[in-house]
Amino acid sequence: MISHLPVVTDGPAGDAPYAGMSADHPMRRVTLAAAFAPGSWTDERRRRVTELFDGLAEDWSSRDVTGREAPILDALDRGLAAAPAAERRIALDVGGADGINSRHLTPVFPEMITLDLSLEMLQRSAGRAPSRVQADGSCLPVSDRSVDAIFLINAFLFPGEVERVLAPSGVLIWVNSRGAATPIGLPAPDVDRALPGAWSGVASSAGWGTWSVHWRS
Ligand SMILES: C[S@@+](CC[C@H](N)C(=O)[O-])C[C@H]1O[C@@H](n2cnc3c(N)ncnc32)[C@H](O)[C@@H]1O
Repeated sequence: MISHLPVVTDGPAGDAPYAGMSADHPMRRVTLAAAFAPGSWTDERRRRVTELFDGLAEDWSSRDVTGREAPILDALDRGLAAAPAAERRIALDVGGADGINSRHLTPVFPEMITLDLSLEMLQRSAGRAPSRVQADGSCLPVSDRSVDAIFLINAFLFPGEVERVLAPSGVLIWVNSRGAATPIGLPAPDVDRALPGAWSGVASSAGWGTWSVHWRS
């Protein structure tokens, strides 16, 4: 069950970069399939997605424009405040790419591990992301119930893995940087619906983006 919080952050002027991109982008279909049809994430699909993002790595940091951080910061502020209090130290930034968001996350979670399929992306995260691992979000190389938070920022949701690795008091922090136009994005109620078992959460929007924070009920 998701509660929607009022919007409190002024958006940057103008449209989001790539705002014209259609919401029926092929990556949206892959995102829905990953969340709701886990068997759809085949070796062939993994290979094609890796190849795609390897090819985008050189230019990825050009997406780091002022204002893109608004939904991340709002999720860290109001989203985490809404979750039940817990000691939170260890976080994963799954699909963390070239560390584009790391500087916003590490002040809150000093033990931050950035994971990505794309080696080309990870190689560019040197100096931004403190710990970097090439890994697939569908089979994370971490123990059951061992992490306090998972960030999925414009990244695929593999619900079974989120359920497996999050500590009992852990939180999933979900961000669509361009709201409904984010190709690898889902609305908060879909994230809630995809997660196995009973979850609670809050959602809102900030600037160009939307976000939600989810925890076990
Ligand atoms: C749309 S980009 C988002 C990158 C970054 N989080 C951001 O906000 O700009 C998606 C990232 O997820 C990575 N990725 C795709 N599938 C993945 C998977 N199964 N496991 C881990 N990373 C994956 C891609 O290589 C890419 O870096």
